[in-house]
Amino acid sequence: MSRVLLGVTGGIAAYKACELCRLLVREGHDVVPLVTPGAERFVAAETFRALARRPPGDDVYLHLTRADLLVVAPCTANTLAKLAYGLADNVLTEAALAHRGPVLVAPAMNPRMWSHPATRANAETLRARGVVLVGPDEGETAEGELGVGRMAEPDEILRAALELLHGSGPLRGKRVLVSAGGTREPLDAVRYVGNRSSGWMGVALAAEARRRGAEVTLLAANLAVPVPAGVELVETPTAADLEREALAHAAEADVVVMAAAVADYRPAEALAVKRPKDTAAWALELEPTADVLAARGAGRRDGQLLVGFAAETGEAGLERAREKLARKGADLFVLNDVSRSDIGFDAAENEVTLLTGSGERAVAKAPKEEIAGAILDEVEHLIRNG
Ligand code: CTP
Repeated sequence: MSRVLLGVTGGIAAYKACELCRLLVREGHDVVPLVTPGAERFVAAETFRALARRPPGDDVYLHLTRADLLVVAPCTANTLAKLAYGLADNVLTEAALAHRGPVLVAPAMNPRMWSHPATRANAETLRARGVVLVGPDEGETAEGELGVGRMAEPDEILRAALELLHGSGPLRGKRVLVSAGGTREPLDAVRYVGNRSSGWMGVALAAEARRRGAEVTLLAANLAVPVPAGVELVETPTAADLEREALAHAAEADVVVMAAAVADYRPAEALAVKRPKDTAAWALELEPTADVLAARGAGRRDGQLLVGFAAETGEAGLERAREKLARKGADLFVLNDVSRSDIGFDAAENEVTLLTGSGERAVAKAPKEEIAGAILDEVEHLIRNG
């Protein structure tokens, strides 16, 4: 699922944007309608909120909503000009300036307005900036003139939107399953055995895979960071949840990235209630959990790529990571040193070594988002070289 900002401006074609909104929602996208005051003369903002299944309410930072795509349909000559010049006088034009990512514009106006040199120049400015224009189409306008100016049909705008969301990028058409975070194994109703993983690295990988065009499913184990837009989220708080969901989703995945810190042991018995305090010691018996990555390594289908993480401490880590790469049947292992406080757990940066059957490569210290890019570069390389 991706988040789409749907800008609607004041033209008679605004009613057709209702259908576009419905189609985007039906495709499973999270649609945020941005209806200008001009558009409200034709359709109520409430209509779009209902179609987009958004709760009523005023969000003062609506224009700062992060999204994968901005669609402006219909786009009047006036808004087209404002987009070209970077004006920001309403929620939509403000959002357009704050948005980072693809933009799709479906102009709709009187044919004489569309053919005016000023509008042509504005459209060219937007095209040169990478904005995709769909339509306008030729036909009879609402006011009865013939010419080019009608908004493209909603299904055509939808096709263009889906192409922008999924159509480009080196991982397009690939399904990527990523686990992130750290599992928590319950001791009783309120206590658990857990670890310090925030999920940052796994989430950065999920976001980057999505950005590269993949369909991403994120197995989320107690994330301390926000989930990126456009990925399917499956909550897997415990090792058992992760094992079950990994099995359920792995069959269709082209790439499985096990970035989660999965508990190796869980309490043999978890109390359903909160254990009251007393003065005696509390001895715990821990039983081993299933190794999810190793199971995927043993049960994977042809052509599926497996990526594991090795959280190690100190010098001997490289040797242990090599051993894990072989033992767990993975194609790529990402080694990071969790004994350092400036990288790894809870840190914004990481420094890793990538291990494959054909060699090892150090990736210098960088923000986790960049490290995610380097890991996926390696994944793409492995996919290409079969
Ligand atoms: N992993 C897993 N299931 C587990 C434990 C680990 O899928 N029950 C995965 C992790 O997601 C990671 C990789 O295995 O990708 C390595 O995890 P790590 O804990 O470093 O390796 P272990 O096999 O647990 O080895 P050890 O703890 O002895 O170092």
